[in-house]
Amino acid sequence: MKFLTAPSDDELLHYITTEDPQEMEELFAAARAVREEYYGLDVYFRGLIEFTNYCKNDCLYCGIRRSSPCARRYRLDPARILECCRIGDRLGFRTFVLQGGEDPWFTAEGICRILSLIRREFPDHAITLSIGEWDRGSYEDFFRAGANRYLLRHETAGEAHYNALHPPDMKLSERKECLYTLRDIGFQTGAGFMVGSPFQTPECLLADLRFLQDLEPQMVGIGPFIPAEGTPLAAYPQGSVNLTLRMVALTRLLLPRTLLPATTALGTLAGDGREQALMAGANVVMPNLSPQNVRKFYSLYDNKICTGDEAAECIRCMSLRVRATGFVPNMSRGDSKIPLRAELRVG
Ligand code: 5AD
Ligand code: FES
Repeated sequence: MKFLTAPSDDELLHYITTEDPQEMEELFAAARAVREEYYGLDVYFRGLIEFTNYCKNDCLYCGIRRSSPCARRYRLDPARILECCRIGDRLGFRTFVLQGGEDPWFTAEGICRILSLIRREFPDHAITLSIGEWDRGSYEDFFRAGANRYLLRHETAGEAHYNALHPPDMKLSERKECLYTLRDIGFQTGAGFMVGSPFQTPECLLADLRFLQDLEPQMVGIGPFIPAEGTPLAAYPQGSVNLTLRMVALTRLLLPRTLLPATTALGTLAGDGREQALMAGANVVMPNLSPQNVRKFYSLYDNKICTGDEAAECIRCMSLRVRATGFVPNMSRGDSKIPLRAELRVG
């Protein structure tokens, strides 16, 4: 396939919408080749710690939204978060991803205290935060306290579409502003979007790709929409696995050096969804390190996989899957090859 160093909108829309099996396979092969050129066959492992499912926001798709009657709420205190990190370290992880809803119980100071504790014990590990929208000062404090990376999916770059998925107090412009701020501070920054969410059009997906080209994030999380019980969008159909894979491949081709996870949501919709993502250019997996007794409550969507397994079991399973697909598990920090735009000058 002659892809396309600077594809036009029409060319991208063509590959977003194609259902032709041969064209899709060419697209995935091209994405695999680009990924191999920049990252070889390595697949990076990250330990995911879901530390709170309280959230003050009310995103219409999300199973842990504020007004969900279904979510059983939990939060891990700093000691338990640290214990998860220790277990993760013993299992070989060199990246901890701390993810949670926007839980007002955790102040910026509180987050910084947790970061300092982790940093003191694990000076060389990468610490990734995924805790939503904060002001610039808080992001700077997180960075100084030792966080290196920040994941904040933009969810959709179509403005009307964003408004259809979120309550009026959430704005795409603010989400984008947060991402540019994070990048500016010196975080390895992750954006990302859902595929097949209600009201999405091919033009929304084109806007996602164009936004990513502008932001040039070090990481991009892409997963299919999956209905979540107790949410206003519970009755809408789930996203398509093939369309999600095409978006993974197109993102790899447009941002060759970005880190792309094979997401749990893809694994939820298809038994081999994550393997298919690896074959379409993805090169990261995020096994779950959250304590087993709270796993099933971090239910962003229905039927989420890996909620019953021990962390060690999750790693073993993921390693086997990665190897069986022809790739090589890599437990090192695995920093992105996209250079940082800025370093925060402290002091
Ligand atoms: N289906 C798929 N992904 C979802 N997320 C939240 N709710 C859903 C859902 N119903 C994703 C969002 C969020 C990430 C943590 O989980 O993209 O950024
Ligand atoms: Fe928590 Fe959207 S519902 S951030």
